[in-house]
Amino acid sequence: MRAVDVIIKKRDGGTLTKGEIDFFIQGYTMGEIPDYQAAAWAMAVLLKGMTPEETTDLTLTMAESGDQLDLSGIVDIAVDKHSSGGVGDKTSIAVVPMVRACGLPVGKMSGRGLGFSGGTLDKLESIPGYRVDLTTEEFLSQLGSLGMVLTGQSADLAPADGKLYGLRDVTGTVQSTPLIASSIMSKKIAAGAQAIVLDVKTGTGAFMQTLPEARQLAELMVSIGKLSGRNVVALLSNMNQPLGIEVGNALEMKEAILTLKGQGPADFTEHCLEVASQMLILGKKADTKESAHLLAEEAIESGTGFEFLRKLIIAQGGDVSFIDNPEKLPAAPIRVAVEASASGSVSEVNARKVGETAVILGAGRMKKGEKVDLAVGVSVLCKVGEKVEKGQPIFMIHAREEVSQKEAETRLLNAVRIIDGDVKPLPHFYGLVE
Ligand code: URA
Repeated sequence: MRAVDVIIKKRDGGTLTKGEIDFFIQGYTMGEIPDYQAAAWAMAVLLKGMTPEETTDLTLTMAESGDQLDLSGIVDIAVDKHSSGGVGDKTSIAVVPMVRACGLPVGKMSGRGLGFSGGTLDKLESIPGYRVDLTTEEFLSQLGSLGMVLTGQSADLAPADGKLYGLRDVTGTVQSTPLIASSIMSKKIAAGAQAIVLDVKTGTGAFMQTLPEARQLAELMVSIGKLSGRNVVALLSNMNQPLGIEVGNALEMKEAILTLKGQGPADFTEHCLEVASQMLILGKKADTKESAHLLAEEAIESGTGFEFLRKLIIAQGGDVSFIDNPEKLPAAPIRVAVEASASGSVSEVNARKVGETAVILGAGRMKKGEKVDLAVGVSVLCKVGEKVEKGQPIFMIHAREEVSQKEAETRLLNAVRIIDGDVKPLPHFYGLVE
C-alpha cells in the first residue's frame, strides 16, 4: 500500500477501508508518512467527508495508537467530560471538583487553547506550580488516592491525535466533523473513563457554527463511544456569546473559583450545574436531573466543591494561596472600559470576535508553542437581551500594552450590536443527545 494512493482515493470521494485507515494513521504516528502527506490527506477528508463507519475506524485506530488506560481496577466508575471548544469556557475547573465533592471520581485530561478558543491547561497554569504534565502513572495514582485529576494529555495516550491535531491547527483542517469526532473520542476512549459527558457547542464561538452540524457531531461521537462500550451523552450548548463574564486565563481561573464559592455569573453557574448533573447521572450518583442538580448545588452551597478545588491544586503542586486569595492571580497593568455607543437592547455579543480579541491581547497563541500572557483578556459586561444605556461600560479590556488595548477596543465595538426594541435572551442549551 502507498500513502499517496490513500490520499488520492479520499480526494476522489472514495470510502477508505479499515486497512487503509490503519496503514495511514499508524504510518503517520511512527513517522513513516511525512507531515505533507498527512496534511494533504486531512484536507481531502475535510473536503470529501467520511462515512460514520470510516470515522469510527479512524477513531479506534487513533485510540489504539498509544496506551489505553483501564481505570476499572482503580475506581468503580470514573467519569470524564469534554467540550468541543468555546470562548470563556472554564467549565472543567469548576465542574471536576464539584462532581468529586458529590462522591464521583473524575479523571480528566484537558487541552491548550486552539485559535480563538481557550484551553483549560493555559488557565490552570495561572496558579504557580500547578502541574499539567502528570505521567500516566501519576494520573492513575492520583485518581486512586484523591479520586480526581485534571491534567494534560500524556504523550503516550492517543499520540496519533497529538500529531494530527498540531498539523490540523496550521493547515486549515480543524473544522471537519470526522476529524473533530475522531480527535475527541480517541482521547476519551484511551483515557479509560467508563462514562463521558460531551459538551458540543454551536454558534459563532464554536467550531460547529450551526445546530444541525453540532447535532451531527454529537450523534456521531455518542455512537462511537457506545461502540467502544462507554456510556456517553452529549449536551448541545449555545456558544454565540461568551460563557460567563471572563475571557482570558487568570481571569477565567478567578471566575471558576468564585463560582465554586457561589459567587459566579448566572449563565456560567447554570452551565456548570447542567454538565455536573449529567456526569452525576451517568456516574449513578443520581437518578433524575432534579436530584442531580440538587446534589451539585449542595456542593457549591456547602463549600465542599471549593474544598476539593483546593485539594486538587495541592495534589498537583500548585500554590493554594492563589485559590484562597484570587487577587494574587496575575493581573494586567492596563484596564480600560469600552462603553456602549448607543442606548437599546444588546442583540449580539459575537463570541468569536471576543475570543479573537483575547488572542490579540496575548491570551492565546498566534503560532504553535507560543507562550501566552496569563493576565490579559476581556470581561464581558453585557449579555444578549439586556438593556444598556449609551456610555455604560459593556466590556473591560485587560491589556499589557496600550497598542493592543486600542486594537481590542475597536474589535470589541465591532463584536457587539445594540438595537431598538426588545431582544430575547439566548437559550442556554438546545438539548441532549443520548
Ligand atoms: N477539541 C479536540 O480535542 N479536537 C478537535 O479536533 C476539536 C476540539
